[in-house]
Amino acid sequence: MDLTPPPTSLADLVAPPAGSAMRRRDFIFGAGTSSYQIEGAAHEDGRLESIWDRFCATPGKVLRGENGAVACDHYHRLNQDLDVLKRLGLDAYRFSIAWPRVMDAAGRPNPKGIDFYKRLLDGLGQRGIRAFVTLYHWDLPQHLEDKGGWLNRETAYRFADYADLMSRELAGHGDVAAWTTHNEPWCSAYLGYGDGHHAPGLANPRWAAQAMHHLLLGHGLTLPALRANAPQALHGIVANCAPGYADSDTPADRDAAHLFETYQNRWVLDPLLKGEYPADLWRYWKGCEPLVLAGDMDIIRRPIDYLGINYYSRAVLRSKGPDTIDWVRHPDVERTTMDWEVYPQGLQDLFEAFKRDYANLPPLYITENGMSSHDKVNGAGAVDDLQRQAYIKAHFAACSRAMDKGVDVRGYFIWSLMDNFEWAFGYERRFGLVHVDFETQQRTLKRSALAYADFLRERAAAP
Ligand code: NOJ
Repeated sequence: MDLTPPPTSLADLVAPPAGSAMRRRDFIFGAGTSSYQIEGAAHEDGRLESIWDRFCATPGKVLRGENGAVACDHYHRLNQDLDVLKRLGLDAYRFSIAWPRVMDAAGRPNPKGIDFYKRLLDGLGQRGIRAFVTLYHWDLPQHLEDKGGWLNRETAYRFADYADLMSRELAGHGDVAAWTTHNEPWCSAYLGYGDGHHAPGLANPRWAAQAMHHLLLGHGLTLPALRANAPQALHGIVANCAPGYADSDTPADRDAAHLFETYQNRWVLDPLLKGEYPADLWRYWKGCEPLVLAGDMDIIRRPIDYLGINYYSRAVLRSKGPDTIDWVRHPDVERTTMDWEVYPQGLQDLFEAFKRDYANLPPLYITENGMSSHDKVNGAGAVDDLQRQAYIKAHFAACSRAMDKGVDVRGYFIWSLMDNFEWAFGYERRFGLVHVDFETQQRTLKRSALAYADFLRERAAAP
C-alpha cells in the first residue's frame, strides 16, 4: 500500500468552512468501524457464534448469502490498519468489541480474544490516536439469544457483567476517551425484533418494545462499573436519529412527521434523558407497551457524559389515516447506493430540535456520518469518490451551522474507516474512506480519505 502523501492539498474538497468552530484543535475528528463488519476470524481463538453468524447462515436473510466470516480480515491485519489510521491523521478511532470473542458461554474471560483488543488499544496509543470503544454493535452471543436474547431481562445483567469485565481488562491500555454502551439500540430492537431485517430476525412490534427496554436497562446497569473502572473516560450511548418532515402542511401530515420522530428518535432519547417512554409511541404501536419494573426508568435515565448521534438522512412523511405513517419517496433528489436521500440540512435541524426539546442534552458527538457509493479503483490506482467528498463537506458545514446556533458538538466520526460488511446488504454497499478489495484484501485510500488527511494535517499545522 502506498503511504506517500498526495502531491497537492486536497483539503478543500472536504474541509469545514473557514472560521468554523470545528477547526479548533480540541474538536475530535475520527472514523469508525464495528467488530462483525470488519474483523473476520469468526472461528478463531475461542470466539463463539454470534447472532449475526446464525442470521447470515439463514437462507434469504443477507444479499447473495454473504457473511462476516472473513470481512476485512482486520483481526489478522491489525497493524496494517493501524498504520492507515495514522496515515489519515485521525484524532480518534471508534470501534466495537465482539462480545462472543471475549467471554465463554459460562461468562468466563477468554484471554486470547481480550488480547486482540489490548493490542488494538496499545497500537492506537503508540500512534497517538484516542479510542472510542463501543461495547455492543449488534453481535450478541448466540447462546444468549437461545435464552431469549434481548427479550430476556437476564441479558441486560449479562451485558453489565461483560462491560465490567472489559473495562477492567482494558484499563491501562491506550487512551480510551469514551466508552459507548450501545450502538443504535433502535436497530437492535426494531430491525432485530420488530421487523426481522436484522439478526435475530424476529418480527413483532411488541417484541421490539420489550427488547428496547432491556437494551436500555442494560445500558443503565453498566454505567456504575464503567465509571468505576474507567474514571478518566466519558460514558454514553449512540443513537441513530433522523428528522421527519411533513409532506404537506395539513395537521394529519404534521402528525405523521411527529409520529415518525417519536418512533425514530424519542423512543430512545426520552427514556434516556427524561426517564419515560413517549406516550404517543403507543398510538402508533397500540398495546405494545413493554413490561417495566419499579426502578427501571431511574436506572435508564442515569446521567451520561455525551450522546453520540449517527446521522445519514431524513424522512418525508404523509398520513395514511389516524396514527399511521406513509414514507414519501421524492424521485428527483440526490441519493446514495443505499437509496438514502442526501440531506445535510437535516443534521442542523435535528440538532437544533434536540437542543430545544431536551433541557439536559449532554454534549453531542456525530459518531457516524457518511455514504455508500459504487467505488472502484481506476487504472491509475486511485478511487475518485466525488459524491462522498461533496457529502462530507456539506455535512461538515451543516454541523458547523448547528454549532453556530449554540449546539454543543465535540467531535465527528466518518462512517466508515473502510469498506466492510454492510449487514443485510453484504459487501455491495461501500461506505469506506478506504477502499477494500475483498478478493485480495488490498486497501486503497479513496480521494475523500486523502482530502480528510490533508485537512487534518493543515489543521494540526495551523497556529
Ligand atoms: C449504522 C451502523 O451503526 C453501521 O453498522 C452501519 O454500517 C451504518 N449505519 C450504515 O448503514
